[in-house]
Amino acid sequence: MQMKKSHAIGLALVLLAGLAAAGFPWPTQSFPKTPPPPPGEYPQGELGEMVKLGEAIVMNTNTHPLTKDYVGNDLQCKSCHLNGGKTGNRYATYVGVAPVYPAYSPREKAVVSLEDRVLNCFMRSMNGTRPPVGSKASIAMAAYITWLSSGLPVDPNPNQPVGVYSTPWPDPAIAKLVNSGSVDVEHGKQVYEAQCAACHGADGQGVGAFPPVWGDRSYNAGAGMANVIKGASWVKYNMPLGNAHLSDQEAVDVMAYVNSHPRPSFKLTDHLAPAGEAGVYNSNVPQQIIEAPTWPPKKK
Ligand code: HEC
Ligand code: HEC
Repeated sequence: MQMKKSHAIGLALVLLAGLAAAGFPWPTQSFPKTPPPPPGEYPQGELGEMVKLGEAIVMNTNTHPLTKDYVGNDLQCKSCHLNGGKTGNRYATYVGVAPVYPAYSPREKAVVSLEDRVLNCFMRSMNGTRPPVGSKASIAMAAYITWLSSGLPVDPNPNQPVGVYSTPWPDPAIAKLVNSGSVDVEHGKQVYEAQCAACHGADGQGVGAFPPVWGDRSYNAGAGMANVIKGASWVKYNMPLGNAHLSDQEAVDVMAYVNSHPRPSFKLTDHLAPAGEAGVYNSNVPQQIIEAPTWPPKKK
């Protein structure tokens, strides 16, 4: 059958627009249903040393000599990537993350590497400064995260810079509640006081080794966690620690309550190292500003 050229182009455009809205079909490889356990042994030689260094940094980010100067709060990567990202918790594991890079990142409107992704966390979740690409700390963290996916297929993600076991991201049921306006901060306060305050403090500042969830020493307004949809998606699968059981509505309400408190605002340019020490910051959106608190959402 012959199709007129103009019709064929029209059809192709419609298909492309559909794909852009829905995302390209992914994954294209088959992965085990649940994240496999981390490899039983560290790699040999220098590589093994780098993997161990990366693990030590992920566990002690704010005190480790190679990264403490780049961190501006009381968190470690493992504060959110529980157990250093080794466990199978959805939206927190590092297993299945390395295989998806290079990946397209809608936030930076650019294709980013695993190293880029790791370094950007310093600006936002860690409220600090971006370490240079190719620095020892950066390579070590990327080595550790890559090692955790040993044996899995490689499958670059054209839609999002999130791993195999984090997609769909964020949680669709959570997104639906927030987008339909079903958010109750007062109820969130009750959930927080009953189920979170014992560890994170009634004032959100943490208790002993339990980390702060708002205020100057917490993640900033540019972090994934400061977005109620993303924060609630994470909390649903990860908190209360060791006993994650919140309903979708409880997860949404409690993170709206948490994010209705003050925390550092985010001005992207304040979190890049001075020119000359910065290396390359790979983004087409270099000027982002997000004011705290991030809930209720500000009218544009
Ligand atoms: C305050 C919580 C928090 C902290 C601290 C944190 N992250 Fe994340 N991280 C997240 C969340 C939530 C996501 C999910 C993606 C997003 O932000 O859209 C994520 C995503 C990632 C990803 C993308 C892979 C995926 O599929 O989840 C990588 C890699 C990553 N973080 C590395 C790090 C590293 C390295 C550190 C420490 C330097 C760190 N993160 C600290 C919350 C955090
Ligand atoms: C039994 C103690 C405990 C309870 C209860 C608990 N958490 Fe946590 N939470 C932790 C610990 C510990 C971490 C950091 C994990 C680590 O370092 O291993 C954490 C991390 C977090 C983080 C990411 C890091 C940060 O400080 O921002 C958020 C957000 C969070 N919890 C929210 C909640 C919410 C909401 C609840 C209630 C629904 C809750 N937690 C209940 C102990 C607890």
